[in-house]
Amino acid sequence: MNIIFLGPPGAGKGTQSRFLEKKYGIVQISTGDMLRAEVACNSDIGKQAKALMDSGKLVSDDLIIAMIKNRIAQKDCQKGFILDGFPRTEAQAEALDRLLVSEGKTIDAVLFLNVDEDILADRISGRFTCVQCGKIYNDISNPPRVDGVCDACGGHEFQRRADDKRETVVERLKEYRRSTAPILPFYEKKGCLYTVNGMLPADEVTAEIEAFLKK
Ligand code: AP5
Repeated sequence: MNIIFLGPPGAGKGTQSRFLEKKYGIVQISTGDMLRAEVACNSDIGKQAKALMDSGKLVSDDLIIAMIKNRIAQKDCQKGFILDGFPRTEAQAEALDRLLVSEGKTIDAVLFLNVDEDILADRISGRFTCVQCGKIYNDISNPPRVDGVCDACGGHEFQRRADDKRETVVERLKEYRRSTAPILPFYEKKGCLYTVNGMLPADEVTAEIEAFLKK
């Protein structure tokens, strides 16, 4: 099963795709996580991406498409993959189509997490993740069961993202409206777009997604 998650920053793409990865054993591919790993090790890609990410702008299509091409070709993607944060522009969506044709693969579902913009800023400002395993939390909607201890791995260290500052979030939302929202009709025309109410509590969003995937 190959799935794409679409939605604005903070819609819950990472939360839902990590859940599906665990439950169905299909790999989550987050271009944001891949880029943050490049920034953390100060690689050439990381150096190119950092300033753009910090200002809420998108990284170049060429760089992202090359990254995805390499990643999808890896063995662990044979059983299926979940794309989280890609594609994000028309050029990326078209490049993905060509890539899938050349690999003999197709997309089974494009899940659009629909969330009102006024909710997103609060979700993002409350987000933090476990340094050890990457599990995503929220100060309000999803704190760890025991304060300061990761539910998943028992880790004690947590971090917040550099681009989760309010002023950067404003720019990320602008980029979403300008470049990413326009690709929804591309998938609608293909008949594989399914809109999920991303404003429900996370476990109810998961239930809606699972019910759709079982059809
Ligand atoms: P990326 O890391 O992809 O960020 P994003 O798309 O902006 O999405 P987020 O990770 O902010 O949100 P999410 O939808 O995953 O929400 P989450 O589950 O964490 O990209 C970062 C940057 O990298 C970009 O700005 C760009 O510069 C670059 N980049 C990445 N991909 C690129 C590409 N393809 N092309 C060009 N540049 C690219 O949830 C958010 C919070 O809400 C959490 O605290 C969570 O616990 C909480 N939450 C989740 N669901 C619910 C719910 N249902 N109810 C209440 N709270 C919830």
